[in-house]
Order: sequence, then structure tokens, then C-alpha cells
Amino acid sequence: MAAIVQVKPITDVPDTSRASAAPRDPTFFQNPYTFYAERHASRPAFFWEEYGHWCFADFKSVSALLRDKRFGRDILHVASREEIGLPPPKLHTADFDLTEKYSLLNLEPPAHTRLRTLVNRAFVSRQVEQLRPRIRQLAHEMIDAFEGQDSIDLIKAFAAPIPAIIIAEMIGLPAEMAPQLLNWSNRMVTMYMYGVTRETELDANQAAADFTAYLRSVIAERRKAPQEDLLSHMLTSDRDGDVLSDDEVMSTAILLLNAGHEATVHTTGNGVKSILESGLDPHALFATPEQAEATVEECLRFDAPLHLFTRYALADIDLNGINLRKGDVIGLMLGAANRDPARFANADSFDPFREDGANVSFGAGIHFCIGAPLARIELQEAMGVLFERLPKVRIAEPPRYGDVYHFHGLEKLTVSWK
Ligand code: HEM
Repeated sequence: MAAIVQVKPITDVPDTSRASAAPRDPTFFQNPYTFYAERHASRPAFFWEEYGHWCFADFKSVSALLRDKRFGRDILHVASREEIGLPPPKLHTADFDLTEKYSLLNLEPPAHTRLRTLVNRAFVSRQVEQLRPRIRQLAHEMIDAFEGQDSIDLIKAFAAPIPAIIIAEMIGLPAEMAPQLLNWSNRMVTMYMYGVTRETELDANQAAADFTAYLRSVIAERRKAPQEDLLSHMLTSDRDGDVLSDDEVMSTAILLLNAGHEATVHTTGNGVKSILESGLDPHALFATPEQAEATVEECLRFDAPLHLFTRYALADIDLNGINLRKGDVIGLMLGAANRDPARFANADSFDPFREDGANVSFGAGIHFCIGAPLARIELQEAMGVLFERLPKVRIAEPPRYGDVYHFHGLEKLTVSWK
């Protein structure tokens, strides 16, 4: 099951609850915050015409609905495809669908609980804390390579490689594979774009097929000769005789590799942009570990990398007067919730000294981001080293966001530092 989409048209919506914004219109995705402000000022629970389902833009609803057990990331554990009108799976995306079949993100309890428990141990704070020196070392190496140049695309030369190498090494893949992993991952996430074409689907499926073939060969090697890495750990983990199958390990490894860098790359780019545009002294924002933590939280809140996640209604539900049928989709607008003026003072100001910063960028409830402790550490260390090494860093070209609305990240961030 690729993207979660509303299949049965919803018709009983009063005009006053409808709102329109084209997800692939540059005016919208370059700055979705204007639309969000309008929603906050009028109706934060609204029917988004282009997506064809209800969406929620206020912090209170988003936060509550992420935790609400009447909604799920999967529906096929409680309904058949026919019942909710889902068409049969597409043959030309079979490889992609297999990578998602056992993805934590698409599972609901008890399957979700079983898999998450096995993986979670590697990502708890005390484990990932040990990675700080390695992240700093990588950040220094990337900046050393800027030598002799006057400006650089920070996304490509700094933001992207660091999290890709870290997650590859955790899983047990060589750092040299990072560019290839980035390529497969970037092509696979296009499947979640609004209005995806058949051509895109074919390319994403090819990337999934190549990624799978590569991982299968590494899994076979690890079965013969386990190492001190997450892949071997997943293959040998045993909860009361319950072990993961190769397909489960493969799905989980692909999810970790993809989720393990996409959003962190975007947060680094968006965060550096927010800091530089704020006019604040970057050095002061990373002067102490506590301030570095607060700065990173504000970067996550102010310009979140992931703006829209969806859920299925698992039964017929009356949600404060909105009548949802089993199988209907709802959209939870993380990027908008983080700018809700009812929750944050001066919500549209970037303020790394605020004390009301707790945001929903990592989600909430059972699917709360497993990588949050790792991402936070990566962002604190990488951005800290960047501003320490390049105190005069500045934006050299107007940055532009990519055309994948819900992955809100910069295509390019050209900076100079002399
Ligand atoms: C700034 C960086 C990141 C952000 C903003 C982010 C955000 C999110 C969000 C919002 C979700 C929940 C989606 C939902 O409820 O539908 C999620 C889930 C997840 N994230 Fe992250 N993430 C980040 C980094 C990472 C990293 C570094 C890893 C890898 C280690 C990771 C692995 C995962 C996994 C495996 C899930 C699925 C958890 C589950 O379904 O139980 N993420 N992430």
C-alpha cells in the first residue's frame, strides 16, 4: 500500500468548511504558512478540496488525533479492499509494495508492537549519545572538503551525507554506499507525491527492486557471519522463539535507511536557513548544550520537514460533527500545528529562546518517530560544528523548496563563508 488516499468520494461537506490549495503550485509549497494562517484564523478543521479529505491544522486536534486509537496507518487489518473501495494492488509497483509490507509505519498492533520492540533498543538516547563524536568528525570532514571553493550547496555537501552515513553505519553498511542509498531513497519517496505519475511509479519501483536486491545479498552474508551491527541484531533477535523473516528485516532496514536521513537532511537545510535569516548570532545559539537543544527544537517547530501525515478511520466516527465513515482518510498537518497561534506565542517568529517550544514534528502516539533522539543529536552536532567552523557563513542565493509538499525541504542551499 503506497500512499494513503481517500478512495470513496466525500460529498456531504458544507461550502463553509471547504478550502483549496494546490500542493504542487510553487506559490503554495514555497510558503505554505500563508494558507496555514488563514486556516487558523477561520476553520482549522477543513475539507481540503485537492486531497478530497478532511484535514486538521490546529495543534490540539493534531496532537490528539495522532494518539487516537480509532485511527490507524493501516486499514486492511479491519476491512477488506472491497469494503473501503481500494483498488487491487498495482502490478508495476510490486517491488515497492513489498518494501512497505512490513514497514513499521504501515503496521498496527500487535504486528507493530512486535517489530517496534525489536528495533527500538538501538535508538534509545543512551545508545545514540555514543554517536556524537562520529557525527562531529563527519561534519568536520565535510567542511574540510569545502577548501578552495567560494560557495557551496550545503544540502549536497553537508546536510545529506552526514545522516546517510550515520544510519548506514548503524545498520552495518559501508559509508561509501551512502550516495547510492540516497539515490534509492530519493526516488522511492516520490511515490508519496501528490498526483504521482506512472513514470514516477516505475522509477520508484526500480529503485525499490535494486535496493532490495542489494540488501538481500548483505542479509545473506550476515546470516553466515553476524557482525556487531543492527542488521545482524535484527536477524538474530529472538523474543520467545519469535525471529524476524528476511522480508521483515529488509522492510525495516529500508524504512530506517530512508526515514533515517530524509527528514534530518531537510531539517538541517531549513534550520540553517531559519537561523541565518533570523539575524541572530549563530554562535550564541549553540554556545551551550542546553541552548543547542533549544535551537534545534525551534528549527523543528518553525520550519518542520514533514508537513502532512494521514490516518484511516478504523470505524464510523463522529468527530465533533464531522461524520467519517470507516476507511475515510484524515490529514494531520504537523507543519501547521507547529505554527498554531493558539498554542505558541508569536507562532510565526523564529525564537530559539522560547520556552513553549514542544512541537509535533516527530509525531505522537504509537508511531512517534523512533529516530527522534538520533535526529536531535545529529542536528545539534552538525549545525554546531558548521557555525563554529564557518562563523561568517551566509546565504548566497535565494533558497527554494522542492516540489514535494509534505516533504518540506530545500532543493539547494547555496552558502558562502569568507
Ligand atoms: C528531523 C528528523 C526526523 C523527523 C522530523 C521525523 C519525523 C517522523 C514522524 C512525524 C513520524 C511519525 C509518522 C506518523 O505518525 O505517521 C516518524 C516515524 C518514524 N521515523 Fe522519523 N523523523 C526524523 C528522523 C528519523 C530518523 C533519524 C530515523 C531513523 C533512525 C527515523 C525513523 C523513523 C521510523 C522507523 C518511524 C516509524 C515509527 C513507527 O511507525 O512506529 N526518523 N518520523
